[in-house]
Amino acid sequence: MTRTPFNRRRFLETAGAAAAVGTLVRSADSHAANAQDPAGPKVKIIAISGSHRKGKTTAAALGIALDAARAVSPDIETELIELADYKLAPAVPGGTAVDDYPKIESRILDPAVGGILFGSPVYFSNMSSLLKMFIEHFGPYKTSGALSNKVAGVLTVAGARNGGQEGVAQSIMAALLGVEMIVVGDGRPTGHSGATLWNNAKDDIAKDDFGCATAKGLGKRVAEVALRITRMTPRSL
Ligand SMILES: Cc1cc2nc3c(=O)[nH]c(=O)nc-3n(C[C@H](O)[C@H](O)[C@H](O)COP(=O)(O)O)c2cc1C
Repeated sequence: MTRTPFNRRRFLETAGAAAAVGTLVRSADSHAANAQDPAGPKVKIIAISGSHRKGKTTAAALGIALDAARAVSPDIETELIELADYKLAPAVPGGTAVDDYPKIESRILDPAVGGILFGSPVYFSNMSSLLKMFIEHFGPYKTSGALSNKVAGVLTVAGARNGGQEGVAQSIMAALLGVEMIVVGDGRPTGHSGATLWNNAKDDIAKDDFGCATAKGLGKRVAEVALRITRMTPRSL
């Protein structure tokens, strides 16, 4: 019968078309579902203030950066941790420091954390001893990779216009590169390698327009890159 092969072909064509339509419908359905779903879990940005003074210029500047981070997307949530609230002991290699670090560690290593801002006042042209003590607990992460691929931004505040902000930022960044963090700057159009603020009005950091702009840029950039990396990369990397 001549109709059999024709019908068979028609059947196959029709079945193929139906399957294709089914795929398209399912695809359209899943797009519709995605459109209704939130883009994904929230991405957290944490700011660590290394200042010995709670709520002063370093914390205020980090607050500006976190505001800018939240403005990037409703999927960004933020938290400020002030190291002055905790007791940190020196982290001796191979030793077990008995201090408050585990209380902070559980928060920064949370898989929901996509980015961390590190803020330090400039003390004698260096980072604060508090922030240094904190970062020195990162030794095991060089092998465990616990901070790998989290985004990092660095913010420094000094009492003088050229009080050592950039040098201190470079020193903090070098430490963060050592634990495979992805260090970013304040982005376009300024392209500075971090946020640098000048405490030029008796602890009112808002008077430093230039510095506040770098803090905003840094918070925005950390959030943007954290969103990209978190959404594109399996957390296991
Ligand atoms: C011990 C100490 C050392 C400092 N060293 C410097 C410095 O080297 N260069 C500078 O410009 N400011 C220096 N300052 C000023 C602080 O960096 C500045 O007041 C900063 O805003 C303090 O941050 P905070 O408000 O978060 O405490 C120093 C302050 C202290 C307490």
